[in-house]
Amino acid sequence: MRRELVVTPSHWSPRGEAELAIHGRPMLVWQGIVGERSLVRVRNMGRNRDYAVFRDTQDPSPHRVEPACDRYNTCGGCPMMHLDTAGQHVAKRAMIVEALEEEGLGDLEVTEVTAGPLPEADFRHVVKLGIGYSDHGRLRVGAWGRHTRTVVPIPHCHVAASSLRAAMASVAHHILELEIPPWDPADGRGVLRAIVLRASRTTGDVVVTLVAGRRVRVLTELAERIALECTEISGVVLHLNDEDNNAIYKRDMFGEVHTKVLRGSPYLEETLNGVRYRVGPGDFFQTNPGLAERLYARALDRLALDDDTPFVDLYSGVGGLALAASTRTGFALGVESLENAVASARDAAKTQDLPATFECDDVGGFLPDLARRLSASRPVVSVNPARRGLEEGVAEGIAALMPRRIAYISCNPRALARDLAQFRALGFTIGAVEPFDMFPHTAHIECLVVLEGQDGAPARRAPRRRVVGRGKES
Ligand SMILES: C[S@@+](CC[C@H](N)C(=O)[O-])C[C@H]1O[C@@H](n2cnc3c(N)ncnc32)[C@H](O)[C@@H]1O
Repeated sequence: MRRELVVTPSHWSPRGEAELAIHGRPMLVWQGIVGERSLVRVRNMGRNRDYAVFRDTQDPSPHRVEPACDRYNTCGGCPMMHLDTAGQHVAKRAMIVEALEEEGLGDLEVTEVTAGPLPEADFRHVVKLGIGYSDHGRLRVGAWGRHTRTVVPIPHCHVAASSLRAAMASVAHHILELEIPPWDPADGRGVLRAIVLRASRTTGDVVVTLVAGRRVRVLTELAERIALECTEISGVVLHLNDEDNNAIYKRDMFGEVHTKVLRGSPYLEETLNGVRYRVGPGDFFQTNPGLAERLYARALDRLALDDDTPFVDLYSGVGGLALAASTRTGFALGVESLENAVASARDAAKTQDLPATFECDDVGGFLPDLARRLSASRPVVSVNPARRGLEEGVAEGIAALMPRRIAYISCNPRALARDLAQFRALGFTIGAVEPFDMFPHTAHIECLVVLEGQDGAPARRAPRRRVVGRGKES
């Protein structure tokens, strides 16, 4: 194949590259734009696809901009930063429409994308860093690079909240000064495999999770130094993961992440729309709190809750929607499989005197019992599953609750489309798909869809469910 070609990408890849096919063989163009005719350089040819990089165009897309980061190419964490915000929204809507069409749901309306209060910078409240060596053997702390597991320092990462940037600088500085080596899962040598930093928008506090292959004294020294130096860091915890894989956390058989406190508190406090949440180190919580506020408020407005309607929040995490809903209804129940998250949700309900209760259980296993108790009162339901979407049988279990309305929140348009097709087959009326740009500059998008149940009609059987790619958890 020639090294330089003129191509016009036809659609977006799930990772945010512009994609096309040449004689049936896919090509992914880094920094390309769908519909823009451009000169590209072929970098390498994989087994199933080719990889190219944008070079030039005579006719630039009106949405093309210079990426506002000098690490754009090496870091790769913001693959759509070469598009302005409007252009990113056009691309993300197109991805959603494509996923819906693949499931025969091309008739559904997809609304304009809702942006957060910080649509371009400072919106990110969780950062995951790796440790590695440069080509010259120098220790490095930063993002895992675009091509390989090389580590790219990102001291000025401007998508991260300013408190996170301060904490990242301190953590990186002391790891280098203490010369803490990266963990090598293949031979069990070294120490640190990752650092996860989470910031609270409300308090500005940051909790740092040191993920290490083994426990050594230098980690306590690191925790002491960073907690002393960086006023933003309110807690440092240690998580041990000696597995030979690329996962950051080692979860136990129930999915829990175990940590040991090295300094301060392991919890952050975050407030969304006046409701306080407690977030622990391994818990899921939206990384973009400004937009999460808009999403939760929109979901609850669309659900039109009143005092007498029971509200059920499935996959409730630390209580995101259940706690918010309990300010509008007298009965809110959250169902979540992780004990740590449920403990945080219960604590938040208790300390704020909110009428929300939480069950620690598997959603699929818990639904039949819930249907026996609640179907007569026709609850309102929210579902916000992990990236893979609903597990087998869950859509039917939800239908058996006889919900009058469901708010489905999803970070994976393909899983969402598959599950919506099931709900349609079960007799639900599906409203417009509302995208929320929770992860600017990436190909990820959060969607809210409200479904209306039929009045008193028994549930039909859903068609067989397919498994869709898990991808990266948000
Ligand atoms: C995307 S998060 C949503 C959390 C919450 N709704 C929020 O807004 O913060 C998905 C949650 O579902 C939980 N989960 C995953 N599979 C589950 C299952 N089968 N049963 C119960 N909870 C589950 C995860 O632990 C996680 O907390």
